[in-house]
Amino acid sequence: MLYFSSPKDIEKLNTNELEDESINLVSVTKEFINKGVLVPVNFAKDDYSIDTFNKSIQYFYWANKEDKDENYQSTYNEFWELNKKRYLQPSIYKNYASSKTINLPFPTEFSSDLLKSITNRQSIRYTLHNNDISLQTLSNLLYYSNGEASYAFDMGMGEAIFKYIPTPGGRASSELYLVNFEVNSIPYGIFHYSVKSNSLELIKKGNFRKIMFNIAGNQEQVKTTSLMLISTSRIDRIAWKYQDAAGYRAIYLEAGALMQNLYLLASALELGIGVIGTFKDKEIDSYLNLDPDKEIVTALYTVGKRKNLTRFDRPTLEEYRKANDQNG
Ligand SMILES: Cc1cc2nc3c(=O)[nH]c(=O)nc-3n(C[C@H](O)[C@H](O)[C@H](O)COP(=O)(O)O)c2cc1C
Repeated sequence: MLYFSSPKDIEKLNTNELEDESINLVSVTKEFINKGVLVPVNFAKDDYSIDTFNKSIQYFYWANKEDKDENYQSTYNEFWELNKKRYLQPSIYKNYASSKTINLPFPTEFSSDLLKSITNRQSIRYTLHNNDISLQTLSNLLYYSNGEASYAFDMGMGEAIFKYIPTPGGRASSELYLVNFEVNSIPYGIFHYSVKSNSLELIKKGNFRKIMFNIAGNQEQVKTTSLMLISTSRIDRIAWKYQDAAGYRAIYLEAGALMQNLYLLASALELGIGVIGTFKDKEIDSYLNLDPDKEIVTALYTVGKRKNLTRFDRPTLEEYRKANDQNG
């Protein structure tokens, strides 16, 4: 068997100059490459973008972008618009009236930190001004929502990151950005959360509260929040594996899983969090330096100090049971 004395680019080898055994070696190596047994060094590419989705999904993608002020209406206008069609409201419950029913016992308040986080989970829009959210708290919030729990490589899946949220096909398309308005543990500015190194990468320095207030359709909670989080999806990672409607659905299913982890973590870390699902895509893309063909903003969050550690305006389980006259 002959060996090459130094690494060679297999595509550039001139087989006419090689001995038979080396030619065999080259053809076997090429076969391994074709079958995906061998992968080139630094193979990850940035070629997959929205262009690789089929046309209907591309349409859905671009139609989903909200850029015009007319797309927004104030909460006041929305209230009166909805009020006009109050009588058209679809039922908020579903029941199979003629089916046999098995009554379930009322849930118990079993002792668990998870249950506490779940029952205290709530959208808390108005938080106290607070500048002492520690780096440790930020790390806990970011890591357990979008951080890497493990890394794997296999031939079918390629590189995969496993997180504390489920991700479609292990593609882990979500990225998180942080915009700091008043927290002292880090400078004011826009940061990207690096999954690879559990760190914050400064993108732009400055106080972007007014800009974010406008981007979020003038929602009042942005005026008092300590910081904002922005979740995005790297659609190229998804499109590499899923190129049809399933890919588009996957993006938002993952974003929803991320949302719930953020809410539960905020609840456990005694922070107030509120999601904002309406925002001006073009503007936010430009502040985050996103390539809109590859990455889409999925949600904004306000995060601050929780005023009250229990749920606001909601009954306890016991009060709910009594009010609804449920079994027991
Ligand atoms: C996809 C999505 C988008 C939302 N967008 C907004 C928003 O723009 N502004 C806001 O104040 N709340 C927003 N919310 C929060 C909901 O209003 C809130 O979850 C709902 O009223 C139930 O209240 P709870 O979360 O306290 O249980 C959004 C929630 C979801 C799931």
